[in-house]
Amino acid sequence: MIHFIGAGPGAADLITVRGRDLIARCPVCLHAGSLVAPEILSWCPPGARIVDTAPLSLDAIIDVMRQAYAAGHEVARLHSGDLSIWSAVAEQTRRLDRLGIPYDLTPGVPSFAAAASVLGRELTVPEVAQSVVLTRTSGRASAMPGTERLAAFAATRATLAIHLSIHVIETVAAELIPHYGHDCPAVVVFRATWPDERVLRGTLEDIAAKAAAAGLERTALILVGPALGATEFRESALYAVDYDRRFRPGGAVAAPAGPQPT
Ligand SMILES: C[S@@+](CC[C@H](N)C(=O)[O-])C[C@H]1O[C@@H](n2cnc3c(N)ncnc32)[C@H](O)[C@@H]1O
Repeated sequence: MIHFIGAGPGAADLITVRGRDLIARCPVCLHAGSLVAPEILSWCPPGARIVDTAPLSLDAIIDVMRQAYAAGHEVARLHSGDLSIWSAVAEQTRRLDRLGIPYDLTPGVPSFAAAASVLGRELTVPEVAQSVVLTRTSGRASAMPGTERLAAFAATRATLAIHLSIHVIETVAAELIPHYGHDCPAVVVFRATWPDERVLRGTLEDIAAKAAAAGLERTALILVGPALGATEFRESALYAVDYDRRFRPGGAVAAPAGPQPT
């Protein structure tokens, strides 16, 4: 069995308990190089074969899995963040399907969620933004489908979490300004939850210059949207005293009864 595991955004303690337990029992571990914290690899059992896949081709990676499976070994396959976005899991599982090798997937904390935590903010705010677009710009490894243009997402004024694009932040900002305006909050979170994490706060007008001055070139997220600066928004009805919902017939109590902390 091959266990694909989302290793989280950086900090070792942001992996799931299930992911940690799987790593601890697999005698073979493949990991995405420097994007996975060394502490996570220290949970591999003694004598485990630990393979950095950064320099390997897909053929070579699948070959390691195939050999381990043939030898009756379980394999932990670690990717940064969560597996559901830009993890290259799809091409690996397709190969495994063809080879008849079983696998399962364990989710991880995605970098956009880690970045929001670093900022101490919710990315959806009542009546300001109720959608988050996880996107990227074209890169060497894969081009964007023609319909997935940044301007098309920007037209919704949703919160954008733009991955893999810090090196083109100037053109990203220029493309977004006609939709969000010069003053729209824009934030760069570099290596969220790693020891060298950095946060740059600005607007679409000045964020590119700030990123250039900081010399940030990779492993950073660009977050854009009015929700990032919203303070005067309506509270949602969820916890309103007069909000009658299925599991709270009659609405909420104004304050809980019982002993209060001293
Ligand atoms: C190949 S994608 C992997 C995404 C990952 N699967 C996830 O769930 O976030 C790599 C990009 O994700 C973002 N990223 C990954 N880890 C990050 C972190 N700790 N802080 C900020 N951005 C990060 C950056 O935009 C980086 O270029």
